[in-house]
Amino acid sequence: MKLSAIATSLGLAALAIASNVLPHDLDSNDYYVVHLDGKTSPTEVARSLGLSHEGPLGELPDHHLFVGRKAEHDIVKRELTERRRRKRSLGDEPHVLDSVLFSEKQRLRKPWEKRMAPRPAGPARRGLFSDQGVDWAVKKQKDVIGTLGIKDPIFKEQWHLFNTVQTGHDVNVTGLWLEGITGKNATVAIVDDGLDMETDDLKDNYYAQGSWDFNDKGPDPKPRLDDDKHGTRCAGEVSAGKNNACGVGVAYDSRIAGLRILSKLITDADEAVAMNYDFQHNQIYSCSWGPPDDGQSMDAPGILIKRAMLNAVQKGRGGLGSIYVFASGNGAGNGDNCNFDGYTNSIYSITVGAVDRNGDHPYYSESCSANLVVTYSSGGGDSIHTTDVGNACSDNHGGTSAAAPLAAGIFALVLQIRPDLSWRDMQYLTVNTAVPINLDSGEWQTTAIGKQFSHMYGYGKLDSYAIVQAAKTWKKVKPQAWYYSPWIHVNKEIPQGDAGVAVSYEVTQAMLDEANLERLEHITVTMNIEHTRRGDLSVDLISPNKLVSHLSVSRKNDEARAGYDDWTFMSVVHWGETGVGNWTIVVKDTQINSYNGTFTDWHLKLWGEAKDASKAKVLPMPTEEDDNNHAIIATTSLPATTTTIAPQPIATDTKPTTAVSDHPNRPVNSKPTPTDASSTPSPTSDEQSSETTTPANSTWLPSFLPTFGKSAATMVWVYGSAALIGVFCISLAVYFYLARRKRLRNNPRGDYEFELLDEEEAEGLAGGGSSAEKRGAGGAGGGLAGGGGKRTRGGELYDAFAGGSDDEDVDDGGVYRDRVDEGGRGSGSGSGSGSASGANNTGRQTSALRSDSDDESGHHVVGDDDDDDESDSDDARPLRR
Ligand SMILES: *[C@@H]1O[C@H](CO)[C@@H](O)[C@H](O)[C@H]1NC(C)=O
Ligand SMILES: *[C@@H]1O[C@H](CO)[C@@H](O)[C@H](O)[C@H]1NC(C)=O
Ligand SMILES: *[C@@H]1O[C@H](CO)[C@@H](O)[C@H](O)[C@H]1NC(C)=O
Ligand SMILES: *[C@@H]1O[C@H](CO)[C@@H](O)[C@H](O)[C@H]1NC(C)=O
Ligand SMILES: *[C@@H]1O[C@H](CO)[C@@H](O)[C@H](O)[C@H]1NC(C)=O
Repeated sequence: MKLSAIATSLGLAALAIASNVLPHDLDSNDYYVVHLDGKTSPTEVARSLGLSHEGPLGELPDHHLFVGRKAEHDIVKRELTERRRRKRSLGDEPHVLDSVLFSEKQRLRKPWEKRMAPRPAGPARRGLFSDQGVDWAVKKQKDVIGTLGIKDPIFKEQWHLFNTVQTGHDVNVTGLWLEGITGKNATVAIVDDGLDMETDDLKDNYYAQGSWDFNDKGPDPKPRLDDDKHGTRCAGEVSAGKNNACGVGVAYDSRIAGLRILSKLITDADEAVAMNYDFQHNQIYSCSWGPPDDGQSMDAPGILIKRAMLNAVQKGRGGLGSIYVFASGNGAGNGDNCNFDGYTNSIYSITVGAVDRNGDHPYYSESCSANLVVTYSSGGGDSIHTTDVGNACSDNHGGTSAAAPLAAGIFALVLQIRPDLSWRDMQYLTVNTAVPINLDSGEWQTTAIGKQFSHMYGYGKLDSYAIVQAAKTWKKVKPQAWYYSPWIHVNKEIPQGDAGVAVSYEVTQAMLDEANLERLEHITVTMNIEHTRRGDLSVDLISPNKLVSHLSVSRKNDEARAGYDDWTFMSVVHWGETGVGNWTIVVKDTQINSYNGTFTDWHLKLWGEAKDASKAKVLPMPTEEDDNNHAIIATTSLPATTTTIAPQPIATDTKPTTAVSDHPNRPVNSKPTPTDASSTPSPTSDEQSSETTTPANSTWLPSFLPTFGKSAATMVWVYGSAALIGVFCISLAVYFYLARRKRLRNNPRGDYEFELLDEEEAEGLAGGGSSAEKRGAGGAGGGLAGGGGKRTRGGELYDAFAGGSDDEDVDDGGVYRDRVDEGGRGSGSGSGSGSASGANNTGRQTSALRSDSDDESGHHVVGDDDDDDESDSDDARPLRR
């Protein structure tokens, strides 16, 4: 076994190098990902570090893999620190190491968890559904079988494709097959535990060029472990051929690739390469995994993986963007919610939940405001019937794991006829054609564009026929644009029980014009809360249209002695709103107990369609410092210069703003020119301060300061500059200190080696983050992210510079007593009636310079549920492996 592995990796070395995938030997070597400025030879940089250059890192521009002998410390950081020190004493002559923008020492971590149903539903009990077909449906099925010549032995068991018993509860695909829409020339990559490319049902559609085994290092992502069945079953749902084996895939003429990442410990570098693998041809990445769904994990992809995903939506498919499909998670029974998973709550993924063959919500399928759509999976006495490893068939595939590939296959049908659609077009089509179900449960809200949304079902269930018909005439949307609010500082203790802290931020038309943002798609909120029991918290966001996103819900299992640390929540509830008006966030501490906390600050980002396509920009790559701008503030010990704004009640009578049409009648967009994102130009501060500056007068300027007859705005800069100079040095010093702490703080992960870098090491990095932000290996119980040592922040200094603005457009926190439901999962009040008596709070609220680049940051940890051979008790299941 070991020998053969060695032989394999030796034999494959050449191949691997050719495809930028390197057979790492982490037992005897250390690997570093280094992001260079693009002007310096990587070989030269590696040499000066005493390392060798292994090659570029996948598709990430200017990212390279260096290798060296195993060492306790981080060689790159140490060298950079040394360089910095010498630079201070010797001055400025250029040095090869100045080209290093970012480095990260690679560590093995646990693979993510597969999202098989915790309690497998199994095959339909004998006689339960067979021979119960409704006559007309049975006849129609026979016609389809005859017309298409389907000989697959289990096709009749594949109720998700054609349900003759609960008619209508299937993906409604056979009409498309009859039109010849079967996924031809579309390619789906199953990112999972392998893909049996030799099985009769998959061998003809297998796409070798897009496949790779990142666990055992080689071109064939064969299932090698006993329980490596998940990926093959998912692949069968998409692309099992129309033949004599098992059943058919929903897109049975599509190509299918396998990327094996779930079967062994893995590095972020490998996962990042996998997520971009052959991304000019692999069009859709189907991902039925994520952090454990134990109701206590809170984890997100590491920075390299985030970069890979952004890289894919900017450059994959010739710039149209790779399509990521993620399973929403199986933790509903554990009180889990898909907004605690940084993959499902990424704006770049289409998050897919499950419904069972009766159209009911299965007990496992997670809800959240990022949940876009649902499709069929196990529950209601049956499972998904599909291909299995070794020419077997599975009658026991399920969980949201089985829903995501079905959606991926449906998107493959769309791409057969419209390969020119962008990743965002696919999301629009999904929103527009999903069919709402179970309207009497699931807390549906009517959105600004007249669609129904439920945190449990997203916009409804996918209808293959409907989405493909809509795609035929779909006019592509214009490029993406975004508006970032400043950091909104709150620093208020959160009352316990039904009350909450409510803070509003007003977005004006002028701000959106400036941001070139026409209408909303996603919104994200990055926030900080200090708390001694994370699971007690809930967060709602109420839009100007009074639509409510339950960004976070209380989770009974989540005991983490931590709050939220720059965690980003996402919502698709506000799709189609204009964004103009007051956005109110309501934070509650739902449990009356000894655990309490403080709402520190938040940051609203609105994402959507550009007004003017020609002014569209390319989003810079995320860095680990994206959220550090508020930390900088905290480093000053200067007295606050902010104003305490008098509390105001939340408006209760705001009329919904005009809904925007969901049918864009505008010119076909030109896609953003992919520029070299690797140079990570942070959005200019000009642009930012202009966005944060709103027509406000100088009421916030401390009155004891003379104004020399100049305007308030001028004086802001005068005093601001003076103060800046004064504190610059102090800030810098403290900043580095805190930045270091911040990175460490985010480091949960008990059972993986994780190195505390010293301060100098932290300092050692030029433009980019240190390696410290690592997702640890999830497992180990709901370990929480780092907990202690949290900085305190105040809005203070930077507010003075950021903008003479906030008192007018930001209104303030009050105790929120309304019943915009505490948002236990899935139970949210329909349309937020944002009434609140803004009682007696003096919620301070100011804004600072807003952060620039994108972030979807956050971290959390993991538990487990998975495979079909597990026992039936769903809670407290043992960790896998
Ligand atoms: C399903 O597909 C058929 C065409 O095959 C179409 O007429 C129908 O509207 C689709 N949707 C539903 C819910 O039946
Ligand atoms: C197949 O897809 C490729 C891009 O992936 C495209 O260039 C080609 O034209 C397509 N072929 C057909 C027949 O649609
Ligand atoms: C936002 O709230 C503030 C304070 O409550 C109010 O003055 C303002 O009119 C509101 N804006 C809109 C658009 O409703
Ligand atoms: C929790 O409450 C105690 C007592 O009121 C207070 O001192 C402490 O600051 C609170 N903790 C947080 C994180 O707000
Ligand atoms: C600030 O502006 C408000 C109206 O926008 C005005 O009522 C107030 O007098 C102004 N205050 C100062 C100090 O100019």
